[in-house]
Amino acid sequence: MGYRVVVAGATGNVGREMLNILAEREFPIDEITALASRKSLGTEVSFGDKTLKTKDLDTFDFEGWDIALFAIGSDATKIYAPRAAAAGCVVIDNSSLYRYDPEVPLVVPEVNPEAVEDYRNKMIIANPNCSTAQMVVALKPLHDRARIKRVVVSTYQSVSGAGKAGIDELWDQTKGLYVPGQEVAPSKFTKQIAFNVIPHIDVFMEDGTTKEEWKMVAETKKILDPKVRVTATCVRVPVFVGHSESINIEFEEFLDEDEARDILREAPGILVVDKREPGGYITPIESVGEYATYISRIRQDSTIENGINLWCVSDNLRKGAALNAVQIAETLGSRVLKKG
Ligand SMILES: NC(=O)c1ccc[n+]([C@@H]2O[C@H](COP(=O)([O-])OP(=O)(O)OC[C@H]3O[C@@H](n4cnc5c(N)ncnc54)[C@H](OP(=O)(O)O)[C@@H]3O)[C@@H](O)[C@H]2O)c1
Repeated sequence: MGYRVVVAGATGNVGREMLNILAEREFPIDEITALASRKSLGTEVSFGDKTLKTKDLDTFDFEGWDIALFAIGSDATKIYAPRAAAAGCVVIDNSSLYRYDPEVPLVVPEVNPEAVEDYRNKMIIANPNCSTAQMVVALKPLHDRARIKRVVVSTYQSVSGAGKAGIDELWDQTKGLYVPGQEVAPSKFTKQIAFNVIPHIDVFMEDGTTKEEWKMVAETKKILDPKVRVTATCVRVPVFVGHSESINIEFEEFLDEDEARDILREAPGILVVDKREPGGYITPIESVGEYATYISRIRQDSTIENGINLWCVSDNLRKGAALNAVQIAETLGSRVLKKG
């Protein structure tokens, strides 16, 4: 016996990946339905070798459905997640709306799987920001060994992190640069993204950080350990899919780079590709369509007593969103709901 599963936002980047991953991982499903806005009514989306016709989220009745995977943005989530939860359907939400609510668990299954049990508080589980998800997968096994004091992270985030509109803008702008008269002005991004990088994601906060940077700090504390201090610089780069991060970690205890590499090789969800030669590391394009969080360039930081530097890459639509959401559903299934 399987679950009755809803995917809301099924026409979006993350929603389509959620359908792919549910099928790939053979999540136990008795019935599945794909939802989006009214304008997408009847749009066909793939689920394994089947095709689903998208229904209107606004008129959907969640009664009798077990799990709803949401990827529809915070504004729509505010309306529809409470509706699903009130009908007894557990919502696994990709937006940032509930991430900082103390009653809502924020879960990365490789790090804090036990937190799913708090789903009962509001019938909602939050999925973290894409940059946080891959970073905490990398930090967790190192933290368990040598206790992390402080993390300095710079991100190189792909345009798909900004939804379908982000992908379209990079594509159209790149093409437009080659055709006189067809230049595409910035719209989704604040400046030209084609052949450029932009040190600004989400809104500015009062202290000069951006909301994306603040999210990495707050979410790492909630998922991994409130004592870990994080400072982040988040940058949008002209890459379609795959987020990269340069991470500097300061530990309480000394951790040798070889031991760090061995620990990461054994850790769940991680693949180490770390040869000290040209090409002996992972780039974002190689992470596309994969489940792993890749770690490369592991090396001692000799400017501090207990420091390690590393390079971390993952498919932001997968580990950063859809895969993590499906892993949460799997964890919920094995720990709590127990069907299938
Ligand atoms: N992309 C990432 O790397 C990433 C990572 C982590 C979290 N997230 C979060 O995941 C969510 C979706 O992101 P995305 O990249 O998939 O965006 P997207 O490609 O722009 O897709 C948005 C989806 O939401 C649906 N939607 C929007 N407003 C709706 C409404 N009022 N009623 C019903 N459906 C509505 C859209 O349906 P229509 O096609 O019918 O408009 C579409 O299916 C966002 O909250 C985002 O912050 C994204």
